[in-house]
Amino acid sequence: MTMHPGERKKVFVKTYGCQMNVYDSGRMQDALENDGYQNTEVLEEADLVLLNTCHIREKAAEKVYSEIGRLKKLKEQRSATNRPMTIGVTGCVAQAEGSEILKRAPAVDLVAGPQTYHNLAGIVRRAELGERVVETEFEIEEKFRQLATATPKQTRSRGVAAFLTVQEGCDKFCTFCVVPYTRGAEVSRPVSQIMDEARKMVAAGVREITLLGQNVNAWHGLGADGREWRLGELLRELATVDGLERLRYTTSHPVDMDRGLIEAHRELDCLMPYLHLPVQAGSDRILKAMNRHHTIDDYRHVIGMVREVRPDIAISGDFIVGFPGESDEDFEATLDLVREIGYASAFSFKYSTRPGTPGADMENQVPEPVKGERLQRLQALLNEQQEAFNRDCIGQEMVILLEKPGRKQDQLIGRSPYLQSVIVDSSLGVPGDMVHVRITGAAPNSLSAKPV
Ligand code: 5AD
Ligand code: SF4
Repeated sequence: MTMHPGERKKVFVKTYGCQMNVYDSGRMQDALENDGYQNTEVLEEADLVLLNTCHIREKAAEKVYSEIGRLKKLKEQRSATNRPMTIGVTGCVAQAEGSEILKRAPAVDLVAGPQTYHNLAGIVRRAELGERVVETEFEIEEKFRQLATATPKQTRSRGVAAFLTVQEGCDKFCTFCVVPYTRGAEVSRPVSQIMDEARKMVAAGVREITLLGQNVNAWHGLGADGREWRLGELLRELATVDGLERLRYTTSHPVDMDRGLIEAHRELDCLMPYLHLPVQAGSDRILKAMNRHHTIDDYRHVIGMVREVRPDIAISGDFIVGFPGESDEDFEATLDLVREIGYASAFSFKYSTRPGTPGADMENQVPEPVKGERLQRLQALLNEQQEAFNRDCIGQEMVILLEKPGRKQDQLIGRSPYLQSVIVDSSLGVPGDMVHVRITGAAPNSLSAKPV
């Protein structure tokens, strides 16, 4: 492989983990493109490979090292040519493990934590000159300022439904979670930056924006009226952007579901009837050990208020089974809560011990087989609920946002207000169109529909 004069270097980015990483990867690609790189989907032709990693559970973190093992072989083949391959680890594993990565995986040339991406081009240049770079400073305000440097063409490539980061980090310190350590303290992006990015996105064809934050409903900022705004006010302001059809936000914490945000669900037609509100566990004892700052009753109360203003709202959640000290009784309480609330969708995980978190040092760790059995039972129930929710949609009329081509040639995939994938005939329109349909079929993970 040789580099031809005038040819641009190519970057391949592989993303692990949450939507925040998906968003960050996109902005990293934009920044590198503005610095002379070209994006590629073909790993073998990449001059720079970035693994944007996740540290949330052990499995996620370990995946990175097996991927580096594969990349090492590719890099060795390339070293015989005049076109070396630079390997970088970014994201939360980079932040958590820092220089340890360089020791454990000598093939890695650079390590850059999530709050350093505004310097990414410089970091990459140093690595290309032979330095083994480790950057793990927290400079989130700088990062936020630099996020909006995308060109209109780059923004268009984000599709018709896209993410916009409004908040990063976490001050809650749940005892199972690495996020406060990998993403740092809670920081909100200023209103003006958010509005600028939203307008640019809409001008480039985005119709649905999902506001992102590890604690999105803890967002706050100085509003245009000189008052301190919370997420409800920000949503109201975004709702005034012409051409922006739909708003969503994720992920929320129950203690930050304030009245203003709940009322926004009543007032704003463009705010979609979907709420991802993790509860993690169904027993007060475990919630306390998790340092969640609320009880099951508080959670019930919030869900009740949200359902009062928006009766059709789809509730989604996250659950952890096998947190240290979780008894059979505690776990049954989780199943009871799930039956009581009724989830349209949910994510559930076995508790994974994360080094450096208080949970790792707790006694009464739950044996793996017990975790496995509990997870199976919980997932069976959640799947049942999701299927029932989808089935109940049959016969309903709804407006969907056409998003992308389907698996079959004559199909398009749209998104329902409740975040379900809806398969329709491609003659219905083009991505970006809002179309009125009637739901005619339901599968566990998608719906099908006909125009009305
Ligand atoms: N083990 C298992 N699941 C976890 N989560 C966060 N930390 C852990 C952990 N140590 C889950 C929580 C969170 C979601 C993003 O990941 O349910 O809401
Ligand atoms: Fe994973 Fe959390 Fe980092 Fe997202 S913020 S990539 S979920 S560790």
